[in-house]
Amino acid sequence: MPLVVGCLLMAQVNSTAPKTNDRYQFRQPSPDGTGKFYMEREISHVMGHLAAEWLERPEREAEERVSLLIEAFKLSPGDMVADIGVGTGYIARQMAEPIGPEGIIYGVDIQQEMLDLLAANMKRLQITNIKGVLGDVTDPKLPPDVIDLAIMVDVYHEFSHPYEMIQAICHSLKVGGRLVFVEYRAEDPAVPIKRLHKMSELQVLKEATPHPLEWVETIHTLPRQHIIIFKKKPSS
Ligand SMILES: C[S@@+](CC[C@H](N)C(=O)[O-])C[C@H]1O[C@@H](n2cnc3c(N)ncnc32)[C@H](O)[C@@H]1O
Repeated sequence: MPLVVGCLLMAQVNSTAPKTNDRYQFRQPSPDGTGKFYMEREISHVMGHLAAEWLERPEREAEERVSLLIEAFKLSPGDMVADIGVGTGYIARQMAEPIGPEGIIYGVDIQQEMLDLLAANMKRLQITNIKGVLGDVTDPKLPPDVIDLAIMVDVYHEFSHPYEMIQAICHSLKVGGRLVFVEYRAEDPAVPIKRLHKMSELQVLKEATPHPLEWVETIHTLPRQHIIIFKKKPSS
């Protein structure tokens, strides 16, 4: 999407951002849904730790081209990274080398069982620059103004409190720091993932609008997901 179109979309949806007191709506859940809605999107259930093996499936690189995703993050040595919804660390561990020993990856999850799997995987691979952080559903528990890059890979659609999470993540970002949504493309019916586990680019733009974020670009190099990149604006 060209820059000007993204900016226009952000401006257009700004006027429809919900007020604080009617932020979430509760309706009859769809078969895979929670029944909790944010900006007309039904929030999905959280992927439980008993399904963690799926994150480590051998065919994942071929299906998702994670190596291209890592390139798109444009990591530099010394970067401070937050991997929100880190799971078993499949993505985090591929960022460990590019950021080098001076960098840190905060691997945040709300399931202690996922953090235990993360710790075991990092120990086995002798990776020392990933730090597990137990967050909660409204707060990733990160220090303020330190993060260069925060990523959410196949995670945002399952946040039970998306508004609060993005506010808290913005608080942890440096001004100019990037926040990246990686979501399965809802626009493409051929992407073989349940509807509530996909998001459209327009919906992501809409949900980013209430926050101090500026859309930078959307990258379409992956077979199934879009990579939607924002940066933190200076406070006005
Ligand atoms: C589908 S998994 C993706 C894991 C990892 N990003 C990957 O791609 O391999 C989603 C993860 O997000 C976590 N999660 C859900 N809501 C969260 C929240 N509010 N804060 C942090 N993690 C969350 C879940 O516990 C789960 O481990």
